Amino acid sequence: MARDNPNDLAGESPPRSIVAVYPGSFDPLTLGHVDIIDRASRLFSDVVVALSETTRTKRFSFSTEERLAMIERVIDPYPNVKVVSFGGLLTHFARSIRATVLIRGLRAISDFEYEFQMASMNHTLAPDVETVFMMTATKYSYLSSSIVKEIASLGGNIAHLVPDAIHDQIVGRLGPKS
Ligand code: COA
Repeated sequence: MARDNPNDLAGESPPRSIVAVYPGSFDPLTLGHVDIIDRASRLFSDVVVALSETTRTKRFSFSTEERLAMIERVIDPYPNVKVVSFGGLLTHFARSIRATVLIRGLRAISDFEYEFQMASMNHTLAPDVETVFMMTATKYSYLSSSIVKEIASLGGNIAHLVPDAIHDQIVGRLGPKS
């Protein structure tokens, strides 16, 4: 429960089991996302990758089922990570699974304004759900799903940008047809 006075927390120990949600459209999942999932899996008892079924602005290249299946293959080695798709508000979804943390990756300063807005709005919608930011690994700070799709569609190498388990599916769907 959120408290007005931080001193009220004195003497309370944090909950032992923390469910954290890592939301995104993952169209497709990249190694930048996997880096965040890997690190979050060491911090929280349960990590739920929350796959957004729709967004206001994006047309997806992969269906919800395809994105779910791709993520399931990649997270298979992580016993405390699972993937679930959701529609509607992220905070509603988080509460429905009793998650108390939202994980967001920050890639560059340019991400900050949007993330600040989202975190603030999510906080007003669900003060008991805390947003935790993780710095994306420097080598993936320039990465986005769109850039991966663009490179793949133009026949470029994406092997160092996406997990091996889903590389061929992405190239098969988006790569130039001979
Ligand atoms: N490594 C590599 N790429 C990363 C990354 C990382 N660590 N973190 C983010 N990215 C990329 C994503 O792939 C995405 O690329 P794209 O725009 O080319 O597809 C881009 O950065 C933006 O990522 P993100 O901000 O996470 O957008 P998203 O579309 O993946 O997810 C939701 C957005 C689903 C989290 C957000 O729309 C949402 O919460 N929707 C639910 C509705 C809701 O509650 N709205 C109110 C919010 S206040």
